[in-house]
Amino acid sequence: MSAHGGKAAARCDDPPSFALRKNMKNEPSHGNISIWIEETKEIIFESLSSADISTDVCIIGGGIAGLSTAYMLGREGQSVVVLDAGNIGSGETGRTTAHLSNALDDRYYELERLHGVQGARLAAESHSVAIDTIETIVQSERIQCGFERLNGYLFVPPGCERDELEEERQAAQRAGIPVEWAARAPMESFDTGACLRFPRQGQFQPMHYLHGLCHAIERNGGRIFGNTHVKDVESGVPVLVKTDAGPVIRARAAVIATNAPISETYGLYTANAPYRTYAIVARVPHGSVARALFWDTPDPYHYVRLHSSNAADWLIVGGEDHKSGQADNYDERFERLESWARERFPRIQSFDCQWSGQVMEPVDGLAFIGAHPVGRHNVYVASGDSGHGMTHGTIAGLLLRDLILGRGNPWAQLYDPQRITLRAFTDLIQENINVGAQLTDWLKGPGVASIDQIVPGEGATIKKNWQKIAVYRDAQGAYHQRSAVCPHLGCIVSWNSTEKSWDCPCHGSRFNPYGKVINGPANRGLDRPEDHQGLLNAAALLLESSASLSVNFLGKLLSLGLRVGGN
Ligand SMILES: Cc1cc2nc3c(=O)[nH]c(=O)nc-3n(C[C@H](O)[C@H](O)[C@H](O)COP(=O)(O)OP(=O)(O)OC[C@H]3O[C@@H](n4cnc5c(N)ncnc54)[C@H](O)[C@@H]3O)c2cc1C
Ligand code: FES
Repeated sequence: MSAHGGKAAARCDDPPSFALRKNMKNEPSHGNISIWIEETKEIIFESLSSADISTDVCIIGGGIAGLSTAYMLGREGQSVVVLDAGNIGSGETGRTTAHLSNALDDRYYELERLHGVQGARLAAESHSVAIDTIETIVQSERIQCGFERLNGYLFVPPGCERDELEEERQAAQRAGIPVEWAARAPMESFDTGACLRFPRQGQFQPMHYLHGLCHAIERNGGRIFGNTHVKDVESGVPVLVKTDAGPVIRARAAVIATNAPISETYGLYTANAPYRTYAIVARVPHGSVARALFWDTPDPYHYVRLHSSNAADWLIVGGEDHKSGQADNYDERFERLESWARERFPRIQSFDCQWSGQVMEPVDGLAFIGAHPVGRHNVYVASGDSGHGMTHGTIAGLLLRDLILGRGNPWAQLYDPQRITLRAFTDLIQENINVGAQLTDWLKGPGVASIDQIVPGEGATIKKNWQKIAVYRDAQGAYHQRSAVCPHLGCIVSWNSTEKSWDCPCHGSRFNPYGKVINGPANRGLDRPEDHQGLLNAAALLLESSASLSVNFLGKLLSLGLRVGGN
């Protein structure tokens, strides 16, 4: 690992050095910072800026999915190159709450309905093996990331029936999970009533884990480059991975592990919906909260864990999910999390940190891991983390290793990105009706009537002639203007004032305040306003986008029909 930009690359055994501040921000354009990023020095690698290179496997994305895949392949003697558009862990892995769990939040009774008893068994097995694999890697690579095993407790909100828990207990047991009833969850002064106990769950500090993976990948001969944005992946022999800065990587295989796949023209986004989820951190007296994972059952549900660092105990509480780009009451959501936490953990001393992030929810509850769905030879994807991205990312490492090396793997069919799950049909329709509805944003009024209503450090959409413009006003008062039309399929982006980004309400593409793309499926930034001038252009784009959406969606429906016919 090499240093870049004058900052020393962090070592995983460096002591954490942080003092939490409420709503921590680095610079105005970056929004909130998670507790993990705050207490870990950034994991910085030099960018690939000059020469073309060749490798066995090129992995795009330095989150848990990409690094786990690189690690697994490196151990098999494959040469690997990892490219990330930012720093390692700067995507959702740096914003997770890092429960390592086989108590799947889509519920085993639902997975059984969607994938059958055998499918639910394989899902349970794969997530259990993922936790075991993380434990083994932590031990064998001596990664100091606070990995620990603990119980997980699932309980219903006050006054709710427990039928759902019994249904889940039976289904989880059929899937091979040793779950059992407990009289109550170990919360000192809040009686959850009878709940389910899932043994041998796990937790860790995700940035320290990534750090350890980077060291191990490099020890095995792998190369990692940061600040290297990939603009295109051309399938074939070899696969060509093209970067913005010019260098091309020639590889026997490429893995797109960018959370939401980039270069998405094959419609996976129709079955993979983006949701924003929120987390807060509270200081609690040492030893006052049991070391366990806690989840409740409403939709959206709450998730809770403890993290000890700097001689303090930090309670991390998450929840308040909503479809990305379709809500703007961020403060309210953080406040609701705080009051939920206070009621259950009255010994909270202070709230010290908050952030939000995005999870991709596949319509049938399981990630998409495997060969690229539409004829792109030697290209593989990992996406659809479903709030279980730590284990799904590790499963990606195990499964993609086997697929790339031509070995059989019992989970391949379950996670196949080409699968069509007939029983998830209603959810597929609902998610896509929701996406279609977002196209009406073209007809809605702007966020503000005039540009001077935007306060420094904030953004809003305005209307200029027939155009919608995304305007960011920086801390010094200067305006930065971009077209508000998402370059993926033409929905209108909205301002996320807590994370300081432009978020697309359709498939989760995100852009920084100046319009630079942060994550896909869009793979380029917001256009300059002059590139979208006039009603004609706007109408053409709208037409093109609607047509593209419909073609992809109809394609999905058609293949559903074919499968039904073929069954
Ligand atoms: C608040 C919150 C709580 C969560 N809690 C849990 C939990 O308790 N347990 C759990 O299992 N999961 C949880 N998740 C989900 C989990 O964090 C994610 O699913 C997981 O981190 C995704 O990992 P990834 O490697 O797929 O993606 P990422 O970590 O997002 O990595 C993708 C990388 O790709 C890079 N990239 C993108 N586009 C390009 C490009 N064009 N060129 C080069 N690089 C590119 C990005 O910079 C990024 O670093 C949570 C998520 C959030 C937001
Ligand atoms: S992410 Fe698909 S239209 Fe924006």
